[in-house]
Amino acid sequence: MSAIDYGEKIPNNVNLAEDRALQRALEHWQPNYLGWWQEMGPDGAQDFDVYLRTAVSVDPQGWANFGYVKMPEYRWGIFLNAPEADRRIHFGDHKGEPVWQEVPGEHRANLRRIIVTQGDTEPASVEQQRHLGLTAPSLYDLRNLFQVNVEEGRHLWAMVYLLHKHFGRDGREEAEALLARRSGDSDNPRILGAFNERTPDWLAFYMFTYFTDRDGKFQLCALAESGFDPLARTTKFMLTEEAHHMFVGESGVSRVIARTCQVMNELKTDDPGKLRAAGVIDLPTIQRYLNFHYSVTIDLFGADQSSNAATFYSAGLKGRFEEGKRADDHLLRGAAYRVLEVVDGRLGDKEVPMLNALNEVLRDDFIRDSEAGIGRWNKVIEKAGLPHRLQVPHKAFNRRIGTLAGVRVAPDGRVVDEAEWAAKQRQWLPSDEDRAFVASLMGRVVEPGRFANWIAPPPVGINRQPIDFAYVRFN
Ligand SMILES: [Fe+2]
Ligand SMILES: [Fe+2]
Repeated sequence: MSAIDYGEKIPNNVNLAEDRALQRALEHWQPNYLGWWQEMGPDGAQDFDVYLRTAVSVDPQGWANFGYVKMPEYRWGIFLNAPEADRRIHFGDHKGEPVWQEVPGEHRANLRRIIVTQGDTEPASVEQQRHLGLTAPSLYDLRNLFQVNVEEGRHLWAMVYLLHKHFGRDGREEAEALLARRSGDSDNPRILGAFNERTPDWLAFYMFTYFTDRDGKFQLCALAESGFDPLARTTKFMLTEEAHHMFVGESGVSRVIARTCQVMNELKTDDPGKLRAAGVIDLPTIQRYLNFHYSVTIDLFGADQSSNAATFYSAGLKGRFEEGKRADDHLLRGAAYRVLEVVDGRLGDKEVPMLNALNEVLRDDFIRDSEAGIGRWNKVIEKAGLPHRLQVPHKAFNRRIGTLAGVRVAPDGRVVDEAEWAAKQRQWLPSDEDRAFVASLMGRVVEPGRFANWIAPPPVGINRQPIDFAYVRFN
């Protein structure tokens, strides 16, 4: 394990210079990546100086430094956590065997699929967010957007490195295909549904980074358990970066709520019309955005029963969240888990083999984690002395994947008929009018220390800089 070498064309801590064929292959991919970044990265922002953090070490203490960087000059590279001595596979049929440094032939197709699916989400989110810089509510927020974007670009590098190093020619072809698919493109879309949705405004961006980047956290945590050691080590380092993305989402929504509550108290009203006229986002609209992003994101975990999930686990490719902290046998052969089902138009649940329900297990872990932050948002409303509370919609609400895809379920968990769904949908999910209203608030604020009217300033700046620091310089 070496320190990160910034003298190389591709910064890395994997001794890339010692593997000339791999180095050449990645140096060949690099200009294609930069071409993709120029075309699909942040719109009109390539020349800005952005106060970004760059990884300088994989040591959790002091792993990054901060400074002005033009985004196309960001040092994307390959950083893996240090190997653990004598690491063993700790779940599934290979439990107790040493971890693999090379891909076992029998698991090659599944591992490639896992890596490609994860890799595809990374550039997708950059594409989804590429127009947001034009309407940032402050320089602080603009910088955070760009930080998330460059790190998603680096996460693509993390997966492409594995494809190039361990999957030969098919890996190189997959790495090219990762640059060819486009979010929302009907001919060549990104692999997963939520990554083809638009992220049209900043409320959507904060919800996306709160919920959908958190899906990323749970997927990465499950892969960090993998018996394929290079995948475990690279995803561990990605998790270090991921924490900031979820912070951007949680604090962003929190600041929107804080500002709305402030105006509700000033005007002594909860009337959405009056609040909208005052230029802030009413809490019911925030709730509808929450319902949308939550439901679309929990679909990302896949079907509630899945033989693939069982195979990935038993083969030692993908563990559970915090696998090592669980007290069971880590084989799960006789274990059961409850999943939802619909019988005679009513929601119930049934017991199924846990191995087949591992998508649901991960989804439920995600749900617990995301509920905690919604509780913190409600504290903001409570502190403002207001009675309203945001709710987590029922797990079966607005689902497109798995058993629940075929039923209409209200946010409170009631199964409803088509007529009620059609009549109430506008109360449950953002309507075109909601989106048009939120869009009407979006306008670029570029004066250091100023914030758009619809969002409160953050309590502190980035890296101990003041809030009115010039986080982006436009040149
Ligand atoms: Fe990522
Ligand atoms: Fe992320």
